[in-house]
Amino acid sequence: MAKLWAARFGKETDSTVNDFNSSISFDSRLYKEDITGSMAHAAMLGKQGIIENGETEKIIEGLKGILSDLESGKLQFSEEYEDVHMNIEQILTERIGDAGKRLHTARSRNDQVALDLRLYVKKEILAIKALVLEFMEALCASAEENLETVMPGYTHLQRAQPVTFGHYMMAYANMMKRDVVRLENCLEGMDDMPLGSTTYPIDRDFVRQQLGFSRVTDNSLDGVSDRDYCIELTSALSILMMHISRLSEEIIAWCSWEFKFVELDDAFSTGSSIMPQKKNPDVCELIRGKTGRVYGDLMTLLTMLKGIPLAYNKDLQEDKEAVFDAIDTAKQCLKVLTPMFSTMEILKDNMKKAALKGFINATDCADYLTKKGMPFRDAYRTVGQLVAQCVKEDKSLADLTLEEYKEYSEHFDADIYRAIDLGTCVAGRCVTGGPAPSEVERQIGVIRRFLEQRK
Ligand code: ARG
Repeated sequence: MAKLWAARFGKETDSTVNDFNSSISFDSRLYKEDITGSMAHAAMLGKQGIIENGETEKIIEGLKGILSDLESGKLQFSEEYEDVHMNIEQILTERIGDAGKRLHTARSRNDQVALDLRLYVKKEILAIKALVLEFMEALCASAEENLETVMPGYTHLQRAQPVTFGHYMMAYANMMKRDVVRLENCLEGMDDMPLGSTTYPIDRDFVRQQLGFSRVTDNSLDGVSDRDYCIELTSALSILMMHISRLSEEIIAWCSWEFKFVELDDAFSTGSSIMPQKKNPDVCELIRGKTGRVYGDLMTLLTMLKGIPLAYNKDLQEDKEAVFDAIDTAKQCLKVLTPMFSTMEILKDNMKKAALKGFINATDCADYLTKKGMPFRDAYRTVGQLVAQCVKEDKSLADLTLEEYKEYSEHFDADIYRAIDLGTCVAGRCVTGGPAPSEVERQIGVIRRFLEQRK
């Protein structure tokens, strides 16, 4: 079958070129956007008197029929036409005759694909954002339940200072908040309607309004060849994936016998085919693994674009698989992460036990001495010696008797035990950003207001 563009060709396209050139296997998912864009374009052509009103109606009715037949599965695309745009135009022409052939007036496939992809990305940004917001709700709910769940805070993966699980989860909620803002900025920056880079007396603003864009692109060469927004999206998604990969890594560690801070619900864990005792955090490992795919998608796009002259070049066809893959991957990960996280059991006692070991209240012990008048450097040394004794005797600071304390400094009194109690230590860290329950409650309030504004 001759191609729609084959008027000046004397030979059939070689079959290897056909396969190589074809994008229908992956751009078919743009069918809704393609039809919506064509309807707006047809309405504009009619309004401008470029085609007759009767033809506009025929086109729009024809496109509606194609849409519903595609959705019901009655209609499938054919490999014979290289992309979604040609498939739809061909089917339309078969169904409504000459009016179908007029749809392509004042439009190229290059504008069409530029428009379709933008419409698709706009829609998907909102879908991804909704999933991130849902996960943020889950983080807030968990933080609220764990305002007093003391656990060790780490630096260098060494126990450092006491924090709470609630405080920890709000760290991730803050990362997610920035991820949402990045997605919103991407959406705002790409909200330009690209269709209409021809010399016809078209009304681009009419099409813009029909399709719900904020602006029209201000330069036709840029409009058809700009894919910055794809890079911005995959970059925002790479950062988002990096964040949830970090959390996944934490959960993997926390599930191990070495930590035992959390237990995943059976519905979100997997077993081993050979070792019956195993319960594996495959979901977290896959999120961590799939993060690499999304980085790869970002690299694909950056590399694809860096050397192509204006305006459209066929290289740009390679944009879609990378964008689709990044979107699909991020959505898939978020969809499983939220329920896995919400059903995860928090083993508070084990967190507490870990917090009691490792001298994470040593700084508080030194602060105690400073408050009693000892210079901080001396206090630091004194507590260092106390810790050394405890390590030798396999004890924690709370296990030492007052007599033992007094051997190191006369400043120690019975109130030392209260001062180094983990609850006291956490409650005392009530500066903005700290782990004190009252402060974490405030942090939850900030995130909840952010969520509320987006409902
Ligand atoms: N399938 C193409 C793409 O995905 C559509 C535009 C092709 N334009 C052209 N003149 N060959 O980018």
